[in-house]
Amino acid sequence: MGEEIIKSNEERDRRVLELWEQVVEVERRLIPTGLHVFGRAPAGEECADLLRAVASFERPEHRARALTDLVAEGLGLDAYERLIADKSENNLRARERVDEVVRESVSIFLREGTEAACLQLEARAKVSTGESRKVFALLAQVRERLKTNAELDGLARALRGEYIEPGPGADVVQNPEVLPTGRNTHAVNPYAVPSQAAYARAKATVGALLERHRAEQGRYPRTMALVLWGLDNIKTQGEGVAQALWLLGVRPVRDSLNRVTEVVPVSLEELGRPRVDVVMTVSGIFRDLFGATMLLLDKAVRCVAELDEASELNPVRANILRQMDADNCSFDEAQLRVFSNAPGSYGTNVNFMVMDSQWEDAEALGDLFVTRKCFAYGRGRDGRALEGREAPAALARALARVEATYQNLDSFEIGITDVDHYFEYLGGVSKAVEKHAQSRPAIYLSDALSRDARVRSLEELVRLETRAKTLNPKWYEGMLSHGFRGVAEIESHVTNTFGWSATTDAVDGWVYDEVARTFVLDAEMLERLRQLNPHSARSLVARLLEAEGRGFWDAGAETIASLREIFESIEDQLEGVAG
Ligand code: BEZ
Ligand code: MG
Repeated sequence: MGEEIIKSNEERDRRVLELWEQVVEVERRLIPTGLHVFGRAPAGEECADLLRAVASFERPEHRARALTDLVAEGLGLDAYERLIADKSENNLRARERVDEVVRESVSIFLREGTEAACLQLEARAKVSTGESRKVFALLAQVRERLKTNAELDGLARALRGEYIEPGPGADVVQNPEVLPTGRNTHAVNPYAVPSQAAYARAKATVGALLERHRAEQGRYPRTMALVLWGLDNIKTQGEGVAQALWLLGVRPVRDSLNRVTEVVPVSLEELGRPRVDVVMTVSGIFRDLFGATMLLLDKAVRCVAELDEASELNPVRANILRQMDADNCSFDEAQLRVFSNAPGSYGTNVNFMVMDSQWEDAEALGDLFVTRKCFAYGRGRDGRALEGREAPAALARALARVEATYQNLDSFEIGITDVDHYFEYLGGVSKAVEKHAQSRPAIYLSDALSRDARVRSLEELVRLETRAKTLNPKWYEGMLSHGFRGVAEIESHVTNTFGWSATTDAVDGWVYDEVARTFVLDAEMLERLRQLNPHSARSLVARLLEAEGRGFWDAGAETIASLREIFESIEDQLEGVAG
């Protein structure tokens, strides 16, 4: 971008605004600062961040409105929803003003209590104390419950085989009722999935996803591959499932016991766009927890395939008919869309292959994904259930049509570089698509928890996570305060980032430049890492060398020479310890 000539003042202003929006986004991103210490409640800034996040969502169950909305209204600004949707300069400024007032009020609440915070909000932003009291009552409850966690006690009681009270499992921002922690987590009734709220949110997210794809690629995707996880769908009450249904253009129907057991088609008029064919690769955990939902998804595909609609508006039907014809196969065979592991097996192993550097050609990563995930689930026309029939050709066929891949993010706490599972699943399926469709798909993720149903490309999210976490001193110093384990966390972020290079090539070279500069080429930092955990320090340096070796990073000979020398010296250090 630096070398392009900026043609006009208007163009310059637009770019500055874009940059500002990105900076604000990194700044606002809620990140965990350090690991959770069992039994210890968050305090200080961490507690304030958490309460602010809780207060920025509407809580109908407490009859509390979002603090951000109340402040925007009180200040006479546009509705907060609109401020975040439309990113003009005025809106960005207005949003910063709102956020500043909210920040101040939460810190007054923490220092001086509810009354002081309510009075400040009334004076500063004309928020009625009747409204703000409801919000702070909730925050007071959250704060109290954070402090009274029963984690250690619960563990000790569990080890003695005693009764542990149950509590819901979710993200604390999404459902503050998970507090106090230390209870026996219960999940969800699969027949309640997707909830009505999840279905409503899915419409907005899918809308944003499809519009984004159309803006960039000139048309809606005809076929997408989705990754569905169990825990994600527990926490969001089936948002991922609802997204699949809405892409296909069906509505869940509840029976007299309020169980979701059927679907009905949404008309094309109501949909206002073509249906999207979806191939779903679901985790082993999802398969175990959501058996009924797997059948519902399969039913949704069949239901859409039966609709007599034009092929450009119903690619599901068109794809199935074409495949039946081309492969001379049955409807049952051509409509398989729900895939998982073999019964009793979990994961893709793509992460292990990457972490152990056990691959020559990246195609092997996609092949491994197909080998592990090619077990079909659903029900045949004769009504008999397929309990995971091995069907690699069917999965390869379905992937060959895919133009975009997608996964829903369910939590503020765990992002795409925090664990190896995102790249093993979304990266793995994208790599497999690249082979079978003979072109790399567009790759998207969305934040189920953000207010504005935000959809990002994988490339954007890697940049955001890198800036907000891996390279953010607030994040890595938080990790380093845990010593040995903290260094392992930093190394694992680098390896997970590398996993995205390996599976999707979505990582910019500067990411590796900056990782090297921050953690290895800075003598003081390197010394800290080596002191705290030389094993992870060595792995981190080795991973950077591997990134260069595999062509993900153009590092320059001098940098590589330094990295090699450092690697050797850590090896000597470790041998010294061992000897
Ligand atoms: C799941 O919830 O399905 C899941 C969790 C961790 C890794 C992979 C899948
Ligand atoms: Mg794991």
